[in-house]
Amino acid sequence: MEPAARGQQPTRPAGLGLLVLLCSSLLLNAVFIAHHLFLPARLGDEDGGSCGLSWALQAAREAEATAAIECSGHGQVFLDGVAGEDGRPGCECNTCFGGPDCSVRKPNCTADADSGNPLFLEPYWRRHAAAGAVVVSGWHRMSYTATDDGKFQSLELENQIRQLHRAVGNAVVDDKHVVFGAGSMQLINALVYALSPDANAAAPPSRVVSAVPYYGSYKTQTAMFDGREYKWGGPTAVWANASRNSTNGFIEFVTAPNNPDTELREPVLRGSAAVFDRAYYWPHFTPIPEPADEDVMMFTISKPSGHAGSRLGWALIRDEKVAKRAYEYVQNSIMGASRDTQLRMLRIVKAMLASLHGEEDIFAFGHDVMRTRWRRLNAVVSQSRRFSLQNISPQYCTYFKRVREPSPAYAWVKCEREDEDCHEVLLKAKIITRTGTVFEASKQYTRVSLLKANDDFDALIERFTDLVNAEKYDTPGLSSI
Ligand SMILES: Cc1ncc(COP(=O)(O)O)c(C=O)c1O
Repeated sequence: MEPAARGQQPTRPAGLGLLVLLCSSLLLNAVFIAHHLFLPARLGDEDGGSCGLSWALQAAREAEATAAIECSGHGQVFLDGVAGEDGRPGCECNTCFGGPDCSVRKPNCTADADSGNPLFLEPYWRRHAAAGAVVVSGWHRMSYTATDDGKFQSLELENQIRQLHRAVGNAVVDDKHVVFGAGSMQLINALVYALSPDANAAAPPSRVVSAVPYYGSYKTQTAMFDGREYKWGGPTAVWANASRNSTNGFIEFVTAPNNPDTELREPVLRGSAAVFDRAYYWPHFTPIPEPADEDVMMFTISKPSGHAGSRLGWALIRDEKVAKRAYEYVQNSIMGASRDTQLRMLRIVKAMLASLHGEEDIFAFGHDVMRTRWRRLNAVVSQSRRFSLQNISPQYCTYFKRVREPSPAYAWVKCEREDEDCHEVLLKAKIITRTGTVFEASKQYTRVSLLKANDDFDALIERFTDLVNAEKYDTPGLSSI
């Protein structure tokens, strides 16, 4: 055996060498292919490699370089920011921060809790930068129209929005027409117009109404476009008795959950035409007991994804004629929502859909942030006898399939002393809020937005804590604020 084995020895290293050579070559090829296929994020290394991209490369480089500029976690740089001396946009700092890189904290800064700016979701999209990114070519949908038959709406975006509603379970979409607008702000008047009698009809003009406290834009929008067909009719309470026999001629805005007090509202004038504003009917703000199925509903991308700046809203409308009139309104007003916006929102809605029920679920993220904020504010306000918040109980949510803690978009703050103007009281304590009178409620109430950036919320908690502490110790100078 041995000699024979010895005799074979010279051939062994050669075979082994060949095998090693073959394996290393295969391995090198695999690494080379994987590098090119799976690492597209490394756009253009020092050698100027373009990973097969041509016209998109420069824009991608610019977008990534801008996003990489650090603003100390308290600001952002945007591609369209004002250019500095170096020709590049600089940091735009959050309120209460300043300096070239936003690292300087302004002491005792005023907390701004006025607007419903949904920046609480910005960290989510930073974390999912790739999923939310869009490349737009210079020739993307230059036409006035978006479809072969001359429509202004992207069919694919419409499909994805329908899918999002089905997956979240917050609206019945199968028997509804979808009409896009430049934010749901534009749809307020589009729907009032669509539900009103024709200008030359014999019918009296519609009265547009809403129950107090209501979202102020129903009044301002309706008053602004006041025409023969409709006019602002004020709070529902004025008509509740008068209209017991006849509720014809009313268009009631029913906001569910309501802005400002976050209640899930029902119509007051039963039998009137109702527009259900469902801006906040998403599981990060409210439990979803069942899919909404009203004849006319209004939604917006601003609150579920946070992209308020993109200005996209949509109406879900059962009746074809009403949908046609709403579509005509948007057509005559702006010839359809911007195609650039529709493309970007297509990407965003797809990313949201892909995240659902996974570890990075956007609604789980949003609920977590909002519930924590509500808990923190409650903890402070519960120490006070001067201020109170609306009561909200935990409730079962069909989306999360469990009882969920409250996580409202707004706190509806009440000053318990009857004669107090709550907005003014808070303003003196360096907290900017939206007074109850904007919602046609008493000045004893004011709305505090919980939707803004983390820095805004932190400032709000600081100022509120100071205020409640001053009350506790009843410091003579401070007790009057
Ligand atoms: C109840 C309600 N409806 C409609 C809107 C308008 O939303 P957008 O125009 O951003 O779609 C808002 C905005 O805050 C709102 O709170």
